[in-house]
Amino acid sequence: MLVRAITPNPAYEFAEEVRAGLTKPGQKELPSKYLYDDIGSALFEVISHLPEYGLTRADDRLLRRHAQDIIDRVPGPVVVAELGSGSGRKTRWLLEALARRQRTFYHPIEISRAALIRCQQELRDLESVSILGFEREYLDGLLEIAAHRKRGQRLLVLFLGSTIGNFDRDAGIEFLASIRRILHTGDSLLLGTDLEKPAYQLIAAYDDDLGVTAAFNLNLLARINRELDADFNVGQFVHEARLNEQARSVEMHLRSTRAQRVAIPIADLTVDFEEGETIWTESSHKYSAEEIFDMAGYADFRCDAQWIDSEWPFAENLLIAE
Ligand code: AVI
Repeated sequence: MLVRAITPNPAYEFAEEVRAGLTKPGQKELPSKYLYDDIGSALFEVISHLPEYGLTRADDRLLRRHAQDIIDRVPGPVVVAELGSGSGRKTRWLLEALARRQRTFYHPIEISRAALIRCQQELRDLESVSILGFEREYLDGLLEIAAHRKRGQRLLVLFLGSTIGNFDRDAGIEFLASIRRILHTGDSLLLGTDLEKPAYQLIAAYDDDLGVTAAFNLNLLARINRELDADFNVGQFVHEARLNEQARSVEMHLRSTRAQRVAIPIADLTVDFEEGETIWTESSHKYSAEEIFDMAGYADFRCDAQWIDSEWPFAENLLIAE
């Protein structure tokens, strides 16, 4: 696969964001996008196979079962752009359905080159599908793809796996609106959303028995050690999954098991933790099936169709740009 890359200064940006998050008055926090270095991405891949975490399998089942119906609802010559392709495994069903109709151009957009390469390996056997990956932030990549589309081509944007849930609710709608501003009327967005479910099931999904999610979360501290020369003692933090009922989300935190001081030289920072204090590392918002129609409307889309998995409450939503 060809990859178009722009390499800014990721270490500088990482250091700046770590500093901002850990010096925030009140609750310390770190942006969840930094969970996904090579180790974090590999751990997330394992999470997607865990019995407690049904989300990825539900997404995959829906796409496998309804790929043809989804594609039939998106007429015309279509170019596919995917925000955060991950391994590309789930996308196969849609690309196969589309390739039965037309020569297909597929553009995964990822900040991780390793993920783009994995995606290409996963999909390389697909005939009549040309893959050009973009190593970019989501909206930058989408802007570029939209700018190069040919006359008459429609865009189908994929935002799968309920990554939208990692935004705050309002920021999620704002993100959908930003996508919409790049699209033309009649283009479409296939949006995966994890739905509300009982508390015990949510907590288990984010705090599994094997401790893979704990390792995924703790790896963020190990990453700061590796890349910013910090001296976090990872063994003195524990993973915690919490329900935030008001926000209808599951939060991941890292709790300091003792009072301690950590130096992060590349961020020019020394930070003190009290015993029991936490760093908030991720929120995963859950939705009702009905609210997706409203979210779509706020962002100037119309929800044309919705498919819900029968085993794990999860919805695939086809939004059309109005
Ligand atoms: C990528 N994202 C949708 C996952 C989620 O469920 O919020 C990330 C994850 N965090 C812990 N487990 C999985």
